[in-house]
Amino acid sequence: MADFYTKALAYLEMIQSRPPKYFDQIKADGLEQKVPIIRDDMGVFIRMLCSLIRPESILEIGCGISYATHWMLLGSPESRVVGLDYNEDRLEQCRRYLEHSGWIDQVDLRRCWAEEFFKDNDQQFDLIFQDSTKKGYTGMIEDCYRCLKPGGTLVVDNIFFNEMVFGLKPEQEKKYAKGVALLKTFNEKMSQHPGFECSFLPLSDGVLVARRTS
Ligand SMILES: C[S@@+](CC[C@H](N)C(=O)[O-])C[C@H]1O[C@@H](n2cnc3c(N)ncnc32)[C@H](O)[C@@H]1O
Repeated sequence: MADFYTKALAYLEMIQSRPPKYFDQIKADGLEQKVPIIRDDMGVFIRMLCSLIRPESILEIGCGISYATHWMLLGSPESRVVGLDYNEDRLEQCRRYLEHSGWIDQVDLRRCWAEEFFKDNDQQFDLIFQDSTKKGYTGMIEDCYRCLKPGGTLVVDNIFFNEMVFGLKPEQEKKYAKGVALLKTFNEKMSQHPGFECSFLPLSDGVLVARRTS
C-alpha cells in the first residue's frame, strides 16, 4: 500500500496542474526552517474542496506560514480567512507571503491561542480548517461545532499522527503515547458526534472531513 501511494503521488505530481511559482518558495522556506506545512496532496485536496464549496468565510486554526491558506485561496479566491497562530515569527512570515501574493486584504491574521479566540468569538464560518497541535484537537471539538454554520465543513489534518495511531514502535512510546491516545479519543468522539457527519480519508497523513448536520 505504501508503495502504491508513493507511486500514485509521483504520477499525480506529473499530471496535475501546478500552483503558482511562489508556492515553491513558501514550501522551500518551510522545509528549510523546519516549520510544519501541509503536504502537497493535502494542498491539492483542500484547494478542490474550497473550489467546490466556495466558502464565504474560513477559519484556519494554526495558519503557520500560510502554505495551506494559499492552497485554500487558490481554490476559492473570494473567501475571507481568519488565520490563528500563537507564534509571532510564523505569523509575520505568513503576513509577508500574503502581501506578496496579493491576498493579505482578505486574511485577518490573529496572533493568539485558538482556545482564547473561541472564548469570545461569535462568528460562524462556512469552513474550519483545524491544523494546530494534535493534542489540542479534542478540546476544540465543541468550539468548532459552535463556530461552524449549519451545513458547514470542518477539515482536520494529521488524524493518523504520522501513522502512529496504527501502533507505536517501542522507542516512540515514551514521547508519543499520550498524544496518540488523545488523537484516538478525538477520532472516536468525532465519529460519534451527533452533530457531525464524518468521513475519515486515508489521504496525506489522514484527513477528516466533517459536515455540521444540525
Ligand atoms: C502544522 S502547523 C500549521 C501549518 C499550516 N496550516 C500550513 O500548512 O502552512 C501548526 C501551527 O499551529 C500553531 N498552533 C499550535 N497550537 C495552536 C493553538 N492552540 N492556537 C494557535 N496556534 C496554534 C503552531 O504555532 C503552528 O504554526
